[in-house]
Amino acid sequence: MFELKWLWQNLEGNRARYITALVLSVVGSSLMIINPYIGQRIVDTFITGENAVQNLTQERGLLIMLCMGMIGFSLLRTGLAYLTTMQYEQASQNMLYKVRIYLYNKIQGQDMEYYDHNRTGDLMTKMTGDLDMVRHSMAWIIKTIIESVTIFLAAVVYFFTIDAVLTLWLLVLAPPIFIVAYIFAKKVRPMYIDLRERLSQLNTTTQENISGNRVVKAFAREEYEIEKFTDKNIHFSQANKKAALVWLDYFPYLETFAQAFNVILMLAGGYFVMQGRITFGEFSAFSALIWAISNPMRNIGIIINDIQRFFASLSKIVEIYYAKPNIVNEHKATEKRRYEGRIDFDHVSFKYDGGEVLHDISFSVKPGETIAIMGSTGSGKTSLVNLIPRFYDVSGGQVLVDGVDVRKLELDELRGNIGIATQDVLLFSDTIDGNIAYGDPELPEEQTVEYARLAAAHDFITKMPEGYDTIVGERGVGLSGGQKQRIALSRALAVRRPILILDDTTSAVDLETEEHIQKSLRELDFPCTKLIIAQRVSTTAEADRILILDGGRLIEEGTHAELLAIRGYYYEVFMLQNEGIGRKVSAHGQK
Ligand code: CTP
Ligand code: MG
Repeated sequence: MFELKWLWQNLEGNRARYITALVLSVVGSSLMIINPYIGQRIVDTFITGENAVQNLTQERGLLIMLCMGMIGFSLLRTGLAYLTTMQYEQASQNMLYKVRIYLYNKIQGQDMEYYDHNRTGDLMTKMTGDLDMVRHSMAWIIKTIIESVTIFLAAVVYFFTIDAVLTLWLLVLAPPIFIVAYIFAKKVRPMYIDLRERLSQLNTTTQENISGNRVVKAFAREEYEIEKFTDKNIHFSQANKKAALVWLDYFPYLETFAQAFNVILMLAGGYFVMQGRITFGEFSAFSALIWAISNPMRNIGIIINDIQRFFASLSKIVEIYYAKPNIVNEHKATEKRRYEGRIDFDHVSFKYDGGEVLHDISFSVKPGETIAIMGSTGSGKTSLVNLIPRFYDVSGGQVLVDGVDVRKLELDELRGNIGIATQDVLLFSDTIDGNIAYGDPELPEEQTVEYARLAAAHDFITKMPEGYDTIVGERGVGLSGGQKQRIALSRALAVRRPILILDDTTSAVDLETEEHIQKSLRELDFPCTKLIIAQRVSTTAEADRILILDGGRLIEEGTHAELLAIRGYYYEVFMLQNEGIGRKVSAHGQK
């Protein structure tokens, strides 16, 4: 019921419209009994009544009026139905629009951990299918329920005014119908929850397959992927059938009961007419309105079906709606300071769900220093730098920027002071220019070119068919790995932040290009503390200090020369990389 309150809250601004729609529904369906009533008058007065023939000649005016009334009410009802539907549509569409924006913002505001745990396909299902189901329910299911109930009650009241005993005879059928419907509802609910889950799996498979199509092709695994998809498709289809078939189990009972209304009416009603207890006109009114009682009963299953789907979807949306990120960015429009760029790790430990990956790490970086971070794969380098912009929070100790715990800094300001090129490069489907200027859309064109030059990207960009206006596909289709890295580097440089984090950003470029980039980084025209994760000694050699991570621990720290002197991990990497390259980097460093 809490979920219904949620709906009501979101109807704000459209509540009047929605209530109007509900009222119109009630009025429109109540009008349904007027025509059978007029019909009853016509039959009794002009067809089967005692003075029928006489009335037909004498009261022609009344007959015409009754007929006109019938037509008039039919038109009125049609007009009302039109208006009603329009109100439902408008109110529900407006609500949908509002909720969609809210959910989108909500998803944007989630932290990295949320994305670690939620599949894209599932989120997409919530944003599309589930939202639409909710709207459909607001507009159609509620409408059907309200109208069915109204017309049922109106017909029952009308029947009572004609003949209470006959009405009671008919209503004998109601309890068994409700019992059958209740059992059905209980049985079908878990099936719709299951169905909803399978749809989400189907979408997830599709989405992963599409975005991973190059991997699929590379491994010639199309058949396997098709099988995987077919499998999900079969499951979804089976879940659908199963839910639909349950209905078939109950359908015969409900249908039989619904038909029984007519049988009872024939038997009891016919008997009462013969007895003179009710007139033939009254019988015809019963007969004309019996559907108003049997149809809602008949539809009860379909309505229950839809309500179950509605709740299955609603609960999914509410999940996003009330999801609370641990790391909250309030986007407060404060005056954003420019930091100096001092970074301190103070006995930092950090864990994902799987366990602790950084243990008791302490080091300090002064403003303007260049720090290289090295370590075998999986040693925790990316995890370590992710703590600085607070993509994740530490589980022990603290990370300080400019002497302040990052958890106490305003998040927009903190992130606004960091330029980052992440390890897996993601470019948007936009022009190259747009991608480089992503962090600063106002960036003048000369500057875009300037930063592309620094990142050794200018040359290959100008060789592309449309230069900086070339549109790169989703995830940078049409670019090589090294080209993507260089655009990502330009993007990180272009924001000119006091802290620059490069996560393996030159791993895919050749040595010569890398040298150019090294030089650019040395000569940046803005003050900048640099954290550079790299595997090559040629990159790390010139750093002010090098940190070596191993299994989440900081095992070595010092300059190139210092680390070589202790003959540890760094020394081994150095020896390994310099064999056969002709000692490109001297053992004493280049400075
Ligand atoms: N890890 C995890 N959950 C994540 C990311 C990483 O459990 N969302 C784990 C990994 O299994 C790994 C450890 O955290 O054992 C460190 O990962 P990471 O910091 O990414 O290692 P890197 O040193 O950056 O490795 P690479 O050189 O391969 O980038
Ligand atoms: Mg990494």
